[in-house]
Amino acid sequence: MTAEDASSNISDLQSRALTELETLQDARRLEDWRVVYLGRKGKLTQTLRTLGSLPPEQRREAGQAANRAKTTLEEAYDNHLKTLEEASFATSSTKGRLDVTLPGWPVLRGGLHPTTQIVREICNAFASMGFQVVEGPEVESDEYNFEKLNIPKDHPARDMWNTLWVDYTGIQDEHSVLLRTHTSPMQARIMEKMDSKPVRVIVPGKCYRYEATDATHEWHFFQVEGLAVDKGITFADLKGTLYEFARLVFGQNRKVRFRCDYFPFVEPGAEMSIDCFLCDGQGCRVCKKTGWIEVLGAGMVHPKVLEGVGYDPSVYTGFAFGMGMERMAMLKHGIEDIRLFYSNDLRFLKQF
Ligand code: PHE
Repeated sequence: MTAEDASSNISDLQSRALTELETLQDARRLEDWRVVYLGRKGKLTQTLRTLGSLPPEQRREAGQAANRAKTTLEEAYDNHLKTLEEASFATSSTKGRLDVTLPGWPVLRGGLHPTTQIVREICNAFASMGFQVVEGPEVESDEYNFEKLNIPKDHPARDMWNTLWVDYTGIQDEHSVLLRTHTSPMQARIMEKMDSKPVRVIVPGKCYRYEATDATHEWHFFQVEGLAVDKGITFADLKGTLYEFARLVFGQNRKVRFRCDYFPFVEPGAEMSIDCFLCDGQGCRVCKKTGWIEVLGAGMVHPKVLEGVGYDPSVYTGFAFGMGMERMAMLKHGIEDIRLFYSNDLRFLKQF
């Protein structure tokens, strides 16, 4: 064989291979083609082997020609493979198997419930003043819900906190179990637990009452309780702390008003109102034309409560407060009906 024979063999092979390649319509036959022409035992390799009989000079030339043919065929193979893949992708997508241009399923993003949001906001406000967040049981004993808070049996204040008894047997004693009516039982539980003073905690949590529901009453709701106990705590601390809270949550220009109120576990007891942020104290629907909105109950921890948990009231004093979370959210967002919070109406919930 001469060098010319060799290179015409190679170019014949190349053009044959290319012509054949053009006719191939599916990937399996393309693979057969690759094996036949470019495979380890394929035609091109065979041709290369025959070059051994040529004189060295011509062998190099023919070898180069063979390598060029190899590159050409490999590129042609790659291109054809790509074309076939694109074509098969196009047909499969028009058959409806996969259409990447269809919009995907939207990922629904949840949000925090408005009550959760306000609980967090209020906890953050008190945390910024050094209060720790603690949680307690929703099912309480009569002892903690009432007795330790200076609400003995037959005390008329029990009527205000009528609740759901869990083990109602007809006999109510300090062992009776109930769904807590307020977060105040945690006052006693925390003081009993904490040996080191000062105590400075807030307690968010769910409460329950035997209540006919209406626009401003629910039979279950969230409260946040606050408690600070140390040597030398005075009513001024109570006022300062709650004033700061009102400004953090309801705006820097808020005014507050304290008036006497009665809770058996505080002495003196107070209610705090803020000036109406809707009408700036002018009088409107939200503040019922008074210019003031009542936001919480508070007071100095009653000496009897301190004694009951083993604190000496001549050494320690403290203040406590409690507020309803839905009420806070209602004030903040101008919500008119408390029942909206728990009716699972997305039109309402999605606004927050
Ligand atoms: N526990 C009271 C209530 O449910 C609120 C309160 C807490 C009042 C602490 C004074 C001190 O209404």
